[in-house]
Amino acid sequence: MRIGAVASESAPTAALRAGADAPFDLQRVRSDFPILHQRIHGCPLVYLDNAATAQKPQSVIDAVSRFYSRENANIHRGVHHLSEQASAAYDVVREKTARFLNARAAHEVIFTRGTTDSINLVAQSYGRTHLKAGDEILITGMEHHSNIVPWQLLCEQTGARLRAAPLDNAGELRLDEFQRLLNDRPRLVAVVHLSNALGTINPVKRLIGWAHQCGVPVLVDGAQSAPHIPVDVQDLDCDFFAFSGHKLFGPTGVGVLYGRESLLERMPPHQGGGGMIQTVTLEGSTWAPLPAKFEAGTPMIAQVMGLGAALDYVNDVGLSAIAAWESRLLAYATELVSSIAGTRIIGTARLKASVLSFVLDRVHPHDIGTVLDNAGVAIRAGHHCAQPVMQHFGVPATARASFAFYNTLDEVDELGEALHTVKRMFG
Ligand SMILES: Cc1ncc(COP(=O)(O)O)c(C=O)c1O
Repeated sequence: MRIGAVASESAPTAALRAGADAPFDLQRVRSDFPILHQRIHGCPLVYLDNAATAQKPQSVIDAVSRFYSRENANIHRGVHHLSEQASAAYDVVREKTARFLNARAAHEVIFTRGTTDSINLVAQSYGRTHLKAGDEILITGMEHHSNIVPWQLLCEQTGARLRAAPLDNAGELRLDEFQRLLNDRPRLVAVVHLSNALGTINPVKRLIGWAHQCGVPVLVDGAQSAPHIPVDVQDLDCDFFAFSGHKLFGPTGVGVLYGRESLLERMPPHQGGGGMIQTVTLEGSTWAPLPAKFEAGTPMIAQVMGLGAALDYVNDVGLSAIAAWESRLLAYATELVSSIAGTRIIGTARLKASVLSFVLDRVHPHDIGTVLDNAGVAIRAGHHCAQPVMQHFGVPATARASFAFYNTLDEVDELGEALHTVKRMFG
């Protein structure tokens, strides 16, 4: 079936259950994630809240622990061995990140605290210098609050106006409306690649092509795409791309902003402090070259080491293999959940990945989440920081199961079993 299609209650799930195994050694992969091997409320943990944050392989935990145990020093400052070693290791992760995204140069990679921080950086640096009263910023109706509120703040500061291209009933972007709004020549487009609330994959390459024809730069919110589908910023031709380390099996507190060099060069620093300057006198300062210009103060060095280990891990498994397995998990889960009477899938786009949002008649998503938790199944219930999406679908909240490559078909069965328990309880 097409992922996202809603099956009838009697739809056989067996065909989707059978067939090829994961295109990697799933049990070996699972053994790399220590947190997965525990019981919650007496039941084996089934972790299906990966869109909120992903679990960490032992190699990431070790990288952070090793840094603090043996390697800790501040970077780009000291002349002593540990500092030089930490500086070199930090720079290696930047190069690794550039390769991961296929950026042209390592200095197009800025380390931030996460996607939210990356988007705020662009809003405050690019936005405040390039937008003025009356200008428009174009987003979509399926953005995470992180890709709405920074622009609203910018609008308050500059007098610019925020507009959003609407969705259809499947949770797909209305491309005709997007093009219509582009004709009004916004000064910036900011669009989510993979919706955390719906699972919709937006055709960002096409959107970017259209925006560039109008001379409009595009920021892609890749918080959910970077961990699940291969990303190539040169192929997409995006101007900015943001993601978070913690959703990509790395530590919290670190993220990435990719920026096109020609744009980053023209942008002023958004924060001042140590590390981002060339010269300082009491009369004024000049800025360090990229990427230091945007990394004021002591950065999150240990977290960057962890991010490096996470990128190595993901590269080892392979994003194409990850995407293939997660697509299978999503198809199976969609079929299974749809077959339970009274469920409604929220977000049935033709192209989806890793996220299954749903509601169940007469049961609040928080109650679903609580009953599932009692069975050891961790999902998310709420508005997923995407309240406009909830408003569009006329629901206050959804239950959301979100998958990672270490999830199994058996775990999807556990989700189904637990949902039957919910139905029995709230019948
Ligand atoms: C699509 C999307 N954008 C942005 C964010 C914000 O990420 P972070 O909280 O790591 O900054 C999230 C987090 O869930 C997200 O799913």
